[in-house]
Amino acid sequence: MKRTAATALALLLGGSLALAQSAPQLASTLPAIPQASGIVGHYAMVVAQERIAARIGVEILDRGGNAVDAAVAVGFALAVTYPRAGNIGGGGFMVIHLAKDARGNPAQDIAIDYRETAPEAATPTMFLDAGGLPDPIKSRDSGLSVGVPGTVAGLALAHDKYGSGKLSLAELLAPAIRLAKQGFAVRDDLADSLPAAAAKLARFPSSASILLKDGGKPWQSGDRLIQADLADTLKAIADKGPRAFYEGLTAKLIADAVRKAGGIMTVEDLQSYRAIERPVVRGTYRGRTIVSMPPPSSGGVHLIEMLNILEGYDLRHLGRGDEALHYFIEAMKRAYADRAVFMGDPDAVKIPQAGLISKKYAEALRAGITAKATPAAELHAGKPAEYEGPNTTHFSVIDRDGNAVSNTYTLNFSYGLGLIADGTGVLLNNELDDFTAKAGASNAYGLVGFAANLPGPHKRPLSSMTPTIVLQDGKPLLVTGSPGGSRIITAVLQVVTNVIDFQMPVDDAVSAPRLHQQWQPEDTLVEPGFDPAVLAALAARGHRIVPTRPGTSVNSIEVTADGYVGAADPRTRGSLAAGY
Ligand code: DON
Repeated sequence: MKRTAATALALLLGGSLALAQSAPQLASTLPAIPQASGIVGHYAMVVAQERIAARIGVEILDRGGNAVDAAVAVGFALAVTYPRAGNIGGGGFMVIHLAKDARGNPAQDIAIDYRETAPEAATPTMFLDAGGLPDPIKSRDSGLSVGVPGTVAGLALAHDKYGSGKLSLAELLAPAIRLAKQGFAVRDDLADSLPAAAAKLARFPSSASILLKDGGKPWQSGDRLIQADLADTLKAIADKGPRAFYEGLTAKLIADAVRKAGGIMTVEDLQSYRAIERPVVRGTYRGRTIVSMPPPSSGGVHLIEMLNILEGYDLRHLGRGDEALHYFIEAMKRAYADRAVFMGDPDAVKIPQAGLISKKYAEALRAGITAKATPAAELHAGKPAEYEGPNTTHFSVIDRDGNAVSNTYTLNFSYGLGLIADGTGVLLNNELDDFTAKAGASNAYGLVGFAANLPGPHKRPLSSMTPTIVLQDGKPLLVTGSPGGSRIITAVLQVVTNVIDFQMPVDDAVSAPRLHQQWQPEDTLVEPGFDPAVLAALAARGHRIVPTRPGTSVNSIEVTADGYVGAADPRTRGSLAAGY
């Protein structure tokens, strides 16, 4: 299926997020991105896309919880206060840095994969129509698109193994339960995003009766949103532990809802779900260590691949002019060409990860970069093995001991499939569209894939989510990550290089306009704010420049000599850096 980046991103149905313009004009008429204001703390910092949840994280830190405890509480709270992406019906990834502790245990980096899985009955052809062509309704808009949710298992695993031990899971769930039961005032991005999702939610009475007012209209700013069923589901997890979600009544209600919507999920699929700890993917960039999410996310591997390519250029000296940006675009193109071919669920396919993240491979890719744009059609995935020797929401947390958490999780589209499993309050994802429906086909984000990412029993669809921690001298320098589908990896890349190469304070690094290239289509998407002369120079090098609205939200923390600087991305209304 061929589509432009513009139509693909518009398909995100994201309301304020991710609407792209297709007109190839250089002068953008889109509104400017406001400036983030960094806030400084010394003991605690939480940066999230929704302010009530961010403050809950700070409260947990204040009560003696560590960064993992706070992240778990924020994760459950966002499932209530930020239903377009915060969830217990979706999945995601958590990257943790545990500082060396007082008992002399060494520092540790951990990746928790709580990505959704395909049901047992999934097949490689499940998203094709009768004529053998990809059917986006099946992969995005039916019960078939729903992956077995991983969030509850992932957050519980994080708490169990890496929490402080001072606060129980029930204590971390308590604020979310209270908010769901007593309600909270609809504001900011929730009010902004509901109108665009209303038609989708209205198709399911179980969703409309909760997320729409009087069953029909979107809740508006100031209205009180109460989610009683969700409160009960969260309470069951608090009382009986995470298995209460994967077994018994909740599991039955979820499987029933999915099957009624045309899906194939069973209670056994839920019962057998497990979050997995995986070795982090690790790279270096100008003396810093990059710690990020390995497959089934493509994020960490391609972040490191692009950084490796860029390390060969003197970016600081070049500044953010057309020559530097040209190298960024060319690095992005090459990494995304590799992504299409090599990446998938590491438990099902062999990924040449060591080759992809090797400096030698980057050197070979760099050698193919000239002063002019390489047309996408001339670029094919490289041969990294030869060098073998790497609607969503993101939050970042750091505590007084220097433990840090970078967490990105998602329902895929804004409000996922739009289906609340009746009687549970759980809004379900449509994550399985991240599989490749057919070799050479693209998903909703225009990401092309091949055999490595076809659906199959219990497989995890390839992701772009890139929760990342940059270490300097073994300690966190930057905690970062973003929503934004295919644009996530390049957004994180630009914030990392803005801090390290262009030496911007983190708030500037987060606010600065970003561009995005993903090999196919040929378009390079540019947010408002780039110098038109620079864009004209890029066009003269052969790049197809397409203005786009912001579609990412890189909520970050930088550790500086002055303390922890939190920068909430101003691209999301209501995002907050909170700390002290
Ligand atoms: O896992 C992925 O890469 C996608 N499902 C993420 C979707 C997303 O970021 C949508 N947000 N704006």
